[in-house]
Amino acid sequence: MKTLPNYPLCLVLWLIDRWAFGHGPHGRPQYGRVRSLSPRLIIKSGILEGTNEAEVIRYVKKRTTIPLPQIVASATGVFDHFMVMKAIPGDPLDSVWPKMTEMQQASVIRQLRGIIAQLRALPPPNPHAISGLYGRKCKDARVATMVPFGPFKNESEFNDFLVKHAQGNFPPDPFLDETRRLMCDNHRIVFTHGDFAPRNIMVQGDVVVGLIDWEHSGWYPEHWEYCKAHFSPDLNCGKSWIRALDEIMPYGYAHDLRIEKRLSDLIVGPT
Ligand SMILES: *[C@@H]1O[C@H](CO)[C@@H](O)[C@H](O)[C@H]1NC(C)=O
Repeated sequence: MKTLPNYPLCLVLWLIDRWAFGHGPHGRPQYGRVRSLSPRLIIKSGILEGTNEAEVIRYVKKRTTIPLPQIVASATGVFDHFMVMKAIPGDPLDSVWPKMTEMQQASVIRQLRGIIAQLRALPPPNPHAISGLYGRKCKDARVATMVPFGPFKNESEFNDFLVKHAQGNFPPDPFLDETRRLMCDNHRIVFTHGDFAPRNIMVQGDVVVGLIDWEHSGWYPEHWEYCKAHFSPDLNCGKSWIRALDEIMPYGYAHDLRIEKRLSDLIVGPT
């Protein structure tokens, strides 16, 4: 997608960003900075490379009925993306899930299953490639490269990258060779939120009113959403959320999860 640079808007958002975050000697972090401007407005900015969250929200909004934040303004500057959006009234699911009745949880699970199904129904522009939206680089806290990585022509390239990254600077490890052999290189590629955790799901009562934080989203192998959801769950939601994941994504990825956990344990330590 091509968007014309809008320098006046960009300047305004940059000034708001400077005002919101101050201008100390902060390096630009890889992941978006978020701050409330008022009870109703939020500014989020992040580096240019990789996913452009405003772009993703517009893309998903146009093609699904998934509840999303409303973007008030967005612009791409020389070094950063800026986005001002309306706050979604409600509670993040992690703050209310433990207090919900089983019936309320079942209702949330049903809605989330529908949301994931809608994302997975989006046709990939390239049935093999793994990338951010519009072929951009991938960003992922679990892969922990510190900089955006990829894109990849196919899953085989992606898996090689994951194993090589887990290998780090150690001598070749037969355990990793074995792990690589166990990895499947022909999953379906589907649109993936990438940080599907209760903290990123807004609810009012038991109604899901928004899915936020699309920074890690993109076209990924079909098990990635499920594995990522296990990688950084909200711990206060406990085992009942981990069980819920099997109902929200009932596609049988136990094998992929075991492999992914071996790799992520090597990269970021056991979670
Ligand atoms: C994946 O892409 C690489 C690099 O282009 C290529 O060598 C390889 O044959 C491809 N693998 C599959 C399974 O398509």
